[in-house]
Amino acid sequence: MSLFITFEGGEGSGKSSQAKALYGRLRRRGVPVILVHEPGGTALGQKISRLLKWAHDTEISPLGELLLFNAARSQLVSQVIKPALEEGTIVLCDRFTDSTLAYQGYARGLSLEIIEQINRLACQGIEPDITFLLEMTVEGGLSRKSTRTPDRFEKEATAFHQKVRQGYLELARHEPERFWVIDASKPKEEIADIIWQRLDELIARQKETS
Ligand code: TMP
Repeated sequence: MSLFITFEGGEGSGKSSQAKALYGRLRRRGVPVILVHEPGGTALGQKISRLLKWAHDTEISPLGELLLFNAARSQLVSQVIKPALEEGTIVLCDRFTDSTLAYQGYARGLSLEIIEQINRLACQGIEPDITFLLEMTVEGGLSRKSTRTPDRFEKEATAFHQKVRQGYLELARHEPERFWVIDASKPKEEIADIIWQRLDELIARQKETS
């Protein structure tokens, strides 16, 4: 059985900790699983990630940004995600194509249709089976991040992050089967249990139908 699970959310939503928690639980159960993060996960992806997050002195247009995220994604899909899914490993991905729709589409204002085309090209037909959307207020999320220097995205105005949040909610409304929206203001352990329970149900359902 292979499953492709993505974690999405705005800044400080706690999705990375939840992705790590799920990875740990699956590993302890002896389930073959890998955890990757976008942008990154390959040598090329890490270089692109540094540029996208920390190149404060380099102008990057919204279209350039879209293409760079997808250059990193294309490498990650062909080098890591696709081979893992083909051998039956569960793949957990911290951010994926919905981040591009939320950030470069809803927030930066690029055409959602164009983003979808480019995302599709980079993904080679791979789509998430489930997406956990960690949902919380922009202020709540950003306040959790205030301890270190902000990157290019964290530095954006509150209005930008509001658009990201609304964008995610819109995406979830369009695909209620795939998106599981979780109140990210709940305690960490409670969220981890909700995710675990939902995943358990899904695995059981998949076993019944296979
Ligand atoms: P993170 O490493 O803290 O998740 O940061 C990645 C940043 O990149 C985050 O602010 C969201 C942004 N991002 C996009 O704008 N578009 C994308 O496609 C992806 C994957 C991330």
